[in-house]
Amino acid sequence: MRNQVIQDLFCLDGRVALVTGASSGIGCHMSKILALAGASVILVARRQELLDGVAQDVITEGGNAATCLADLTKLSAIDLLLEEGKKPFGSPDILINAAGVNFREPAEKISWESWNKTLMINLSVPFFLAQGFVPGMKKKGNGRIINIASMQSFRAFSNGMAYGASKGGVAQLTRAMAETWSANDICVNAIAPGFFPTDLTAPVFSDSQIADHHASMTAIGRNGRLEDLDGITVFLASHSSQYITGQIIPVDGGYTAK
Ligand SMILES: NC(=O)c1ccc[n+]([C@@H]2O[C@H](COP(=O)([O-])OP(=O)(O)OC[C@H]3O[C@@H](n4cnc5c(N)ncnc54)[C@H](OP(=O)(O)O)[C@@H]3O)[C@@H](O)[C@H]2O)c1
Repeated sequence: MRNQVIQDLFCLDGRVALVTGASSGIGCHMSKILALAGASVILVARRQELLDGVAQDVITEGGNAATCLADLTKLSAIDLLLEEGKKPFGSPDILINAAGVNFREPAEKISWESWNKTLMINLSVPFFLAQGFVPGMKKKGNGRIINIASMQSFRAFSNGMAYGASKGGVAQLTRAMAETWSANDICVNAIAPGFFPTDLTAPVFSDSQIADHHASMTAIGRNGRLEDLDGITVFLASHSSQYITGQIIPVDGGYTAK
């Protein structure tokens, strides 16, 4: 009986999750935990070989996975994804916007192209994918959108002009999406990770002094491990978070609390 209560709260059986940035890092990890919780996952990125590997891992664990190649800087790829993303398992009821870039350029070096690419992938794509998939969620009477914010949604770091602007935008986009769609039982929230070791943060973790500095800035005393995101991912995707929307939830070991 006790196990059944927990199962009912967090089970994602029968749910369909589309995850961008699924070829590596946070998006890859979130895809696998969503699949373990029962969701069928559609894995989106540009690198087919990596996506195939993630799909194989999911299938080996008894889950369902399909891949969709998309360069999210191209409008045509987004339009195609909105069509193709529904084909393997039906219209997604969970959208995870985890694709992201951070070029870490000093302000005076930022080009028109890199600024627009950062804003496009980190901020514009999450909106346009949500806009495209929300009608399907409305029809199902249930939806979950999880954006990936950042500590830079709240505070500045060096060489973070474009990235910080995009992640500040993600925080407000999350609130605006929640305001617009929550009455249709579509909850929209964002996870704001601290420092987690991925390709994106290689410049941080390849320098132990910088990595140790960031660990020391947390209340817990260490940087993030990808498994630290497991609970919040399943929680925000599941029935158990049905009255939580428009929130940006830090998973940063207390970095932004200090
Ligand atoms: N790691 C951290 O500490 C941290 C902290 C705060 C926030 N975040 C956020 O978490 C999210 C995931 O980042 P991560 O750390 O997991 O980085 P990552 O390992 O570098 O993953 C980035 C993902 O974005 C995809 N991507 C990049 N450009 C793309 C494009 N043009 N079209 C389609 N997909 C594209 C990549 O796939 P392909 O290259 O295969 O296309 C990859 O799957 C990002 O939004 C990031 O800002 C990360």
